[in-house]
Amino acid sequence: MVSVDAWGLSVVGPNSQKALQVGSDMGATRRAIVELLATGPKSGPEIADELAISRNAVWKHITALRDQGFEIEGRPDGYHVTEVPEFGGDAVAFGLDTPYTIQYEPTLASTNHRARELAADGMTDVVVLADQQTGGRGRLDRTWASPTGGIWLSILISPDRPPADMSLFTFAAAIAIVDTVAEHGVTAGIKWPNDVLAGPEEHKLAGILTELEGEADRVSWVIIGIGLNANIDPEVLPAESTSLQSLIGTVNRRSVTQAVLHRFEELRAAPEQILPAWRKRAYTLGREVRVDTYAETIYGRAVDIEPPGALIIETETGTRRVTTGDCQHLRAIQDEN
Ligand code: BTN
Repeated sequence: MVSVDAWGLSVVGPNSQKALQVGSDMGATRRAIVELLATGPKSGPEIADELAISRNAVWKHITALRDQGFEIEGRPDGYHVTEVPEFGGDAVAFGLDTPYTIQYEPTLASTNHRARELAADGMTDVVVLADQQTGGRGRLDRTWASPTGGIWLSILISPDRPPADMSLFTFAAAIAIVDTVAEHGVTAGIKWPNDVLAGPEEHKLAGILTELEGEADRVSWVIIGIGLNANIDPEVLPAESTSLQSLIGTVNRRSVTQAVLHRFEELRAAPEQILPAWRKRAYTLGREVRVDTYAETIYGRAVDIEPPGALIIETETGTRRVTTGDCQHLRAIQDEN
């Protein structure tokens, strides 16, 4: 058993179970209907033929989707979706162009915990999503406040890469969040290793907890847990946290979640872009920092990031390369010149 604790990474024994189908047959059929309707209007008979189900079954699923908040108009050329609920599994799946199956629960202890259970059952390419978590976990065994209104999700994938490369996925998630909130007019940046900060006081908007299982040369699975304070009153969040609600008002969590997942996929397909993109969005680089590692506290100026995600710090006694630790920004140095 290997244990890595750099970005909340933990590596345990191998997992060789076979992939399983996510969700019940009913849920899978409804999701297939949602995915079909996202491509354009479809008539009841077309859906029935495509999915090999009865027209009566199609009608029942359409009724269930309407009960969830989908507005679906029956017109001569078929069913048209005119309104999608703000959040939920079917809502996020509608129009999502990624290889993931969305598994949604209104309340979970922890999406990372649920994703670990799915991984143990051999599943992969799943996004576990919740409206609230009762036992949300952060890095370094901290708790993570996860009230209703946030975006709490875990991406479960099985990349054919060594454990050392996994920090790239953590970085990709942070970049995806920064780029997504930028589309909503929020300027955000990354504090090493993976906190997304925003607002004039650079408070914490999002965090990432990555966990994995594998052997020295290859991972079995990796879970990238993303917590984004979306529609949450910052009063109920820990000190020095912020939320999209307090920065720009209420957002549509469905479109934010989809944008994060789409951007994450873009970066996963172009891993050579991840470190350069991270550097451009980093608040830490060029700053005076204090980094607490297990063994010591290091003060200095953060100057770069190196594979697999180590922070390079210039200290009074020389250059240090730190792979794990808790980083605090001390003061801006741009006014030294
Ligand atoms: C941190 O900054 O300490 C990381 C926070 C990660 C929180 C997310 S919310 C979704 C997923 N499930 C969890 O229990 N934790 C991660």
